[in-house]
Amino acid sequence: MKKLFIVANWKANITKDEATSWLQHFKEDSDMLRGEFEQKEVVVCPSFPVISQVKSYVDSNSLPLRIGSQDISRFGKGAYTGEVPGGILHEFIQFSIVGHSERREKFGETDEVVHEKAANVISANLLPIFCVQSERTRIPSGVSIVAYEPVGAIGTGNPDSPQNAERVAKQIKADYPDVEYVLYGGSVSEENVRSFTMMDNINGVLVGSASLDPAGFARIIKNA
Ligand code: PGA
Repeated sequence: MKKLFIVANWKANITKDEATSWLQHFKEDSDMLRGEFEQKEVVVCPSFPVISQVKSYVDSNSLPLRIGSQDISRFGKGAYTGEVPGGILHEFIQFSIVGHSERREKFGETDEVVHEKAANVISANLLPIFCVQSERTRIPSGVSIVAYEPVGAIGTGNPDSPQNAERVAKQIKADYPDVEYVLYGGSVSEENVRSFTMMDNINGVLVGSASLDPAGFARIIKNA
């Protein structure tokens, strides 16, 4: 069976206390999911101030969860007020989402910026989950995990068709030999997740709203 990544993007949701409660639920569900974690790598991406709390809980309870950030600075450590660089993040996380369409649209991140961010993720020995909006989005070298997230599918309840997502994933792998895994994101639910992950070239999902409820997210992991 192919390896799958199931990534929860909490966006600007979930406080520290809510994260503890989410993790407690996840811990209970992880017993029922025990067999799933061999092929499925589950990653949770909290907001910056909640990351260290999630890491402590995951470590002290030996949860089968990996941690990612939703963003990273385009710069290294130094005089960059408000920024969070790889050199600070790397002791907490293994992954970083880069180039999400919300960052591109609402924060003006250009290709140049997101490529610098991806390079910083890689130089901090972390793995970028590099978001593309179509097969035409440029992907920097060294990126092995890409998330295809068509803008019209995000938060709309109107996902892309699995056939089109498969076509895009296949094209990306053909165009970018460094890319080993292509995830699909955009209105993924417990009902539709399998229709994506069963496609030959789709290696997992990036889940926004449906990741906020731990029981629903557990069902996504199970159904994937
Ligand atoms: P959604 O978000 O699952 O709420 O559509 C996905 C994403 O933006 O990563």
